Amino acid sequence: MDPIPAAVVARIDELRSRIDHHNYLYFVLDNPGISDSEYDRLMAELRTLEGDYPQLVTPTSPTQRVGAAPLLALEQVAHAVPMLSLDNAFTEHELCEFDRRVRERLGTTQEIEYAAEPKLDGLAVSLLYEGGVLTRGATRGDGHTGEDITHNVRTIATVPIRLRGEGWPAVLEVRGEVYMPRAGFDALNHRARLQGEKVFVNPRNAAAGSLRQLDPGVAATRPLVMACHGVGRVEEGASLPTRYSAIMQDLAAWGFRASAERRVVVGAAGCFAYYQAMCDRRTALGYDIDGVVFKVDDLGLQQRLGFVSRAPRWAVAYKFRAEEEQTLVEQIEVRVGRTGALTPVARLRPVFVGG
Ligand code: IVH
Repeated sequence: MDPIPAAVVARIDELRSRIDHHNYLYFVLDNPGISDSEYDRLMAELRTLEGDYPQLVTPTSPTQRVGAAPLLALEQVAHAVPMLSLDNAFTEHELCEFDRRVRERLGTTQEIEYAAEPKLDGLAVSLLYEGGVLTRGATRGDGHTGEDITHNVRTIATVPIRLRGEGWPAVLEVRGEVYMPRAGFDALNHRARLQGEKVFVNPRNAAAGSLRQLDPGVAATRPLVMACHGVGRVEEGASLPTRYSAIMQDLAAWGFRASAERRVVVGAAGCFAYYQAMCDRRTALGYDIDGVVFKVDDLGLQQRLGFVSRAPRWAVAYKFRAEEEQTLVEQIEVRVGRTGALTPVARLRPVFVGG
């Protein structure tokens, strides 16, 4: 076999770095650095070189996002650190009660700093990075066992295949939400309608259906986005910041999308003001959120608070009121049970309520 010219190796390296960088600017920061045609030229050059020198193709190359062959089934994955759920609050009173319990448990009357962010209406995923390279993606499942969806998360442009920058732990599990922005969802359904295919009922269902595809080629055509909202397993002895907000900043520097709406707020009053501001911004966001999440920012305090069964004591989801619609009771049937009990059943005129 002819030796590979050093200039080719160097050029491939350079093209990969440049493409990764422009992917990051375009997809993660929403701030393109070059025109689409320049980007396409870089990709075409890389594809040609990799075609000429297939021995230089690596799984982390930007050409290999949709590399894998379709699977027969999704494998099960055990989560080393359980993926917890969140307790809900629906009223200002319940939010204040959450804050009161936090301070009572910590034995303090001082105001608590909370990291505040939107509650994205998507699906929680776990992304494992070893040596800075994405090695596994999994669904949350029941919190202890999920499904291996590595082949699909690799196709999501906001999921880094290789971490950027430096300082990341050798083993780092990043957690976040995969969701489908509304514009992408509308375009997907428009295409499906034109082709006489089944339309998705809402962006969340579309995201869920996309992630569980066996063929990464299908997921690759779905306009999915991943935004991080935590970390799971981390290499022993690694030093991450001691505040959630600072960890989010690190994750952003390593190439992840962290919500642009994230803030640190003080006390229940700060949380409520954030909630009200997000109620007003909700429709302008371009993606569905079903509430806001508040997390005690100081990880030392988080540890002291711990968790109960499936939810941490240091976080709460303040949910928006569910969408409401009016409809008509068209008929009332009375059903007779085995014991003779009568159960009235209302037949409603069908109406669309957020899917
Ligand atoms: S934190 C222990 N942050 O909500 C903390 N979750 O109801 C667990 N979610 O399973 C998650 N946006 O799928 C967190 N900013 C956010 C979130 C968020 C959406 C989802 C996530 C989680 C569910 C819990």
